[in-house]
This record gives sequence, structure tokens and C-alpha cells, in this order.
Amino acid sequence: MSDYVTVARDGAIAVITLDNPPVNALSHHLREPLFKALEAARDDAAVEGIVIACAGRTFISGADITEFGTPKALASPSLPELCALLESLPKPAVAAIHGTALGGGLELALACHYRVADKGAKVGLPEVKLGLLPGAGGTVRLPRLVGPEKAVAMIVSGNPINASAALEAGVVDAIAAGDLTADAIAFAKARVADGGPHVPVRDRDDKIAPARADLSGFEAAVKEATRKTRGLEAPLACATAVRNAVTLPFDEALKKERELFIGLVNGVQSRAQRHLFFAEREAAKVPGVSKEVQPRAVKKVGVIGAGTMGGGIAMSFVNGGYPVTILEMSDEALDRGFATIDKNYGISVSRGSLSEEAKAERMGRFSRTTNYADLADCDLIIEAVFEEMGVKKEVFGRLDAIAKPGAILASNTSYLDVDEIAASTGRPQDVVGLHFFSPANVMRLLEIVRGDKTAPDVLLTALTVARKIGKVPVVVGVCHGFVGNRMLGARSAEGEDLLLEGASPEQIDKVFADFGWPMGPFAMGDLAGLDIGWRNRKSLGKTAAIGDALCEAGRFGQKTGKGFYLYEQGSRKPIPDPEVAKLIEEKARERGVNRRDISDDEITERTLYPMINEGARILEEKIAARPSDIDIVWTNGYGFPIGKGGPMFWADTEGLRKIVERLEYWHGKTGKDVFKPAALLKQMAEDGGSFSGRPAA
Ligand code: 3HC
Ligand code: NAI
Repeated sequence: MSDYVTVARDGAIAVITLDNPPVNALSHHLREPLFKALEAARDDAAVEGIVIACAGRTFISGADITEFGTPKALASPSLPELCALLESLPKPAVAAIHGTALGGGLELALACHYRVADKGAKVGLPEVKLGLLPGAGGTVRLPRLVGPEKAVAMIVSGNPINASAALEAGVVDAIAAGDLTADAIAFAKARVADGGPHVPVRDRDDKIAPARADLSGFEAAVKEATRKTRGLEAPLACATAVRNAVTLPFDEALKKERELFIGLVNGVQSRAQRHLFFAEREAAKVPGVSKEVQPRAVKKVGVIGAGTMGGGIAMSFVNGGYPVTILEMSDEALDRGFATIDKNYGISVSRGSLSEEAKAERMGRFSRTTNYADLADCDLIIEAVFEEMGVKKEVFGRLDAIAKPGAILASNTSYLDVDEIAASTGRPQDVVGLHFFSPANVMRLLEIVRGDKTAPDVLLTALTVARKIGKVPVVVGVCHGFVGNRMLGARSAEGEDLLLEGASPEQIDKVFADFGWPMGPFAMGDLAGLDIGWRNRKSLGKTAAIGDALCEAGRFGQKTGKGFYLYEQGSRKPIPDPEVAKLIEEKARERGVNRRDISDDEITERTLYPMINEGARILEEKIAARPSDIDIVWTNGYGFPIGKGGPMFWADTEGLRKIVERLEYWHGKTGKDVFKPAALLKQMAEDGGSFSGRPAA
């Protein structure tokens, strides 16, 4: 008995209950008494069967991730030792699963002879999302229950399945009809009564025998599961481990799984992904929003503007179960907006991810209007009209006149001053920025822009609602472009000059692709449309030698079949264009720029280092509360590779001293402000500090 493990008896069944809040992670302080309780139950002749259940909101949700990299993770009894003990018990052990059985939690359940689940339970092996593979027998036992094809799909995706799918697949043996623990005890008694044999999972062979004879079906499943691994090691290691489960004897495969696990857990990718796991949770903790603050109720949502963003934002809320009213300037604009929404849901239906009925139900949650009075009963109203301060102020003035007291008024502005927008109302405390990313119904990031006067309960409501609609929220302060677009500006600043000085779009894009970005800046520009930046520059009186010349020649990117690259009819594949190379050379000549070979390192230094520098300035100005918030913005909104942990985590691995040194070099050479090292960055480099709090590289 301990604070974490209690044992009760129900007839001949020992009921072992684990209680390690909040999620019953398998910390060493839980493993130790659990091991002892299992030994005691094994040795007690009066005990004929065992049930393992959990107190609190969930079954075991995995190994204790905070122990990784510390001696506690490996301290005896280790999780594999616990699993081996369970599996060797001469009496049946039953796991009673409620909430989530994830990672090591499911692995422990797989080492039991049987599993009974609550009907709301979910089970899965999400280790891959932490840059890992299941390291306590999951890759070896799961295939024996569900077959290697299904196992590899589950383990490589990391996505959990619900109780009924788990029953169908063979992961669980029964779903509780009533009280879970009582049903699990009854199940254990029935197994004791029927006398077995209680075959441990390790000895079940029928589901893997077909693949042993012919691996082709399994290899096809591996190919499908690992189609998009984007330079990550863990998904491939997961597939290797499941293959070992098929081709090697149990103990050998188990040993190899452990070796692969140890390799990954000590690697930089897993450290980066674990950093992001905690960073996402940390981002929910907002300075100034104390525990006493309560969120406001949000039952009905209004969206103003049915363009690119308004439509996607409205879909996000409807998908999250909210009724949404969209306001536009005219019926024609509403028709256009709703046609796009209808088309987008239609694509989901044609892909099989949404049923016709679900689509109809979602479409039924929208209302449309051109009259502001129809938004009077909304609890949250989000504006997504043109990016012009005059228009925004007019919209907020009208909202101030009609919105009910306490309604939250939000702007989706990309760059504009949220305080100035708030000042156009008589209730600046209710105004907040909600900066969604395009396509808003798909992208998970939400920058919540905190104005000078935004009330804490408005921030908390924004965070709560964001999570309800499946977004990853990060609270940021007011400045031009907030965190994401401001750093993007710094990343892009040198693009044109690099081209003029000798790099090509394809070289720069390749450096980005090799780094792990989904695409480079020029391919991205072509995808988004070069005319957007061109129009923006014109409105600000700015120019870009090459970008402007491309647009003047009607090269807007993919939509016109050419931009920085050429595109064949119906293809999105960028093809380098000699005409663009010629244009770049011409522009360089006109400006008297001597072209030279540009190294890949120089490209990295002149694009990513300024971005880190801007991140440091953002921290100095307290626009972001912590470096890890910046990492969440960039990995969720801009495709920064998760295996590198976000820009600030990556900066640590790159070495802050090196970054400052190279920024100083480029600053000395060009005098450009983007290279002038931020005071914070310089200080940290001098002190040997790091953004992630880890020892400096
Ligand atoms: N270890 C340590 N802490 C954990 C943890 C874990 N496995 N899982 C969650 N926590 C912490 C969170 O950091 C958070 O802490 P905080 O309150 O201080 O911020 C707290 O528990 C609550 O977590 P959530 O906010 O995420 O709670 P939710 O209710 O939203 O979600 C959950 C619960 C679905 C269990 C979610 O926490 C989750 O997905 N956890 C991770 C599951 C996982 O990845 N398991 C595999 C671990 S690796 C492993 O098992 C290796 C093995 O194969 C050897
Ligand atoms: P858009 O031009 O596609 O849509 C704007 C819509 O607002 C149009 O349908 C227009 O008819 C409507 N509108 C304009 N004035 C209005 C008014 N007074 N009342 C009602 N409706 C009005 O523009 P988009 O791209 O959707 O951008 C909207 C806002 O979202 C801008 O502030 C933009 O900066 C921001 N944003 C845009 C992103 C993008 O990738 N397009 C990403 C994130 C934010």
C-alpha cells in the first residue's frame, strides 16, 4: 500500500487501484508500489485473479515524460520489468480502462491477460508524436492482437481509437455495460471460473502468422503509414520495430524495440517534440489570468466577412458545434461565401471524412445576414473584413452600437493595431485579436492578441473557445504582425538580395526543404499568389525588384502557371525557369551587384538567424510571454519542422554564440537592422544561457 497504489479484495480477486494525478503517468513512485502489489498478489494463494484500475479521470496515460533523460526513467522497476512481471503471472490479470490508455499505459494493459474498457475509453500508442516508439513492448504485443498491418498504422500515426473500434480490432476483450471496475471484477471472476488457459499476448501467434509467410501486405501498410514522415526518424523506427515483431522471436524483437527506444529518447528530435508537448500546455498559462478568473459563456458566434478567412473561421466554429451567423455587405457576397463553404464541405464528403448528413447538419448551423441587428444576441463576434484600419474602425463602431453587454468583439487582423481598433469602441476591455491562419478551418494555430485593455476573462474565454474548436492558442501582444508574421518578415527580408547576389530560387527553396520546411519561400510565394505581396507593397509605397518585375509580367504564381517557377497545366510541381534566372541577372546588373556563389550556410544565416533575432526582440518587448510560445506559433502556423522544436529551441541547438557572431558579421558587412543582434540575444550568448532553459550548445 502507498499513496499511489491501493489494494482491495473482492472475493478471490485483488483489485489494485493506481492514483497518480493528473493522468496516472507511470512515474517511478507509482511503478515501485505497483510492482510490490503485483508480487504480493502473485504470492498470495488466496488471490486467484487481479484487476488493475485507476482512480481519477483516466487510466494510465503513459510513461512519465518528465522523467525522460533523468535516472528515474530507467530506475528499477522499469516499465518493461513491470510488463514482464504481469505477463508471467500464473493468474489472470485484467486491465480496467477508462479515459485514455496511452503509450506505456496501453503497453501495461497489453501485458495483462485481458482488457475491459469503459464505453467512452480511448486506447493508443502516441509515442511517435513525442519522437519515440513504444518502448515497453507495444510494437511487439499490439501486432499479436490486431495484426501487423493495423498495428503499424496505429503506431506510426499515433492516433488513438475508441472503445468500440478497440473491441472490433481485438485490443480489448469487452466493453463494460455498467460500472467499469465492477464489470472488470466480474470478468476476472468468470475467467478464473472457466479455468483458462490464460494465454499471455506474447504467446498469441495467429494474427502475425500470415505476415510471417508473406510480408507483402505488411510492407504495403508500412508504405502507406510512412508516406509523409518529413525527415522524422520515429515513424520509420516504429515501422522497423513492428516488422521485427513479425520476423523475429518475441524476446529478440522486444530487445530491439528497447534499443530503438533508447536511441530515440536521447536524440534531438524527441527532445524537440517533448519540448513542444510541454510548450503547448505551457501556452495555456497566461500571465495575469489567475485561477479565480472565469470564462464568459459563449453560445452563439457572429462572423463579419465571408471571404477567404471569414468563411474558414465560421466553418471552424460550426465544426466545433457553435451556431454561427455570417454578416456581409451584400447578398451576392454572402452567396459567394456560402458557395465556398458548401464546396469545402463537399470535398470532405467526397474524401469520405464527412457524411452527407453531417454536412447538411453543419450547413444548418449557419445563418446569414446583411443586417448588424442580427448579431445582437452573439456572445462572440469576429471581424474578418478588408485589412484597412478605416474599415475595421467602422465595423467595430457599428458592433459597439448593437452587441449585447459582455459580448466579445474580436478582429482577425494580420498586422493592424488592436488597441487602435479597440479604442473605436466604448468597451475596449471586450476587444481582442483572434488571428487565425489560412485555411482557417484547417490550420490549428490561433494567435490571441491581447490589447492594452483586454480583460483577463476575455482572454480566458478566447483560450477556452479556441480549444473547443480544436485550435492551439497562443496569447501574444500588440505589434505589427504579432509574433508569427513579424518573424516571417525578418525571415523574408534578405530573400531578394540573396537572389540578386547570386542564389537562385531553387537553391534557397532546397535549403529550406533540406531543413525540413514543407516548402521554401519562393514555392510558397507562388502558391499563395505573388500579387498579394505586390498589392501590399504598392499600398505601402514599397518595392521589390524581382517580385515586382514578375508581377508586372503577369507572373502571379501557380494561378497563372508561372511565378518564380513554371507550372505545367494542372501541376503544382515547380520547374526552374531560365527566364527568371535571366531576369534576376538583369536586375543585378542594373543595380551594379556582382553575382557570386552563395553557400547554403549563408542562406541559412541570412534567413533563419534574423528570424531568431526578431524572436529575441519579441521576447524583450514581452510580445510573447516565453520562448516556447514562439515555438508553438511557428510549428503550428508556419510549418517549422517539429523535429527541430521551433525556432527558439533550434537556436539553442545551433548555438546562441554562433548565431550572435554571424549576425554581427552580417551587420558589420551590410549595416542592415535585421542583423543587429538583440540585446537579449547577446546577453544570453555571453552568459551561456539558452531559450529552452537547457544547457547551452
Ligand atoms: N507524463 C508526464 N506528464 C504528463 C503526461 C505524461 N505522460 N501526460 C500529461 N501530462 C501532464 C501535462 O503536462 C499536464 O501538466 P500541467 O497541468 O502541469 O500542464 C497535465 O498532465 C494534464 O495534461 P493535459 O493538459 O494534456 O490534459 P488533457 O486532459 O487535455 O489530456 C491526455 C490528457 C490525453 C492524457 C494528454 O495529457 C496526453 O496526450 N498525454 C500524453 C500521452 C502520451 O504521449 N503518452 C505516451 C508517453 S511516452 C511512453 O509512454 C513511452 C513508453 O512507450 C515507454
Ligand atoms: P477577403 O478579401 O477574402 O475577404 C474580406 C471579406 O470582407 C469580403 O468578402 C468583403 O466583402 C467583406 N467585407 C469587407 N468590408 C466589409 C464590411 N464593412 N462589412 C461586412 N463585410 C465586409 O479577405 P481575407 O483574406 O479573408 O482577409 C480578411 C482579414 O483577415 C484581413 O484583416 C486579413 O488581414 C486577415 N487575415 C488574412 C489571412 C489570409 O491568409 N488571407 C490570414 C490571416 C488573417
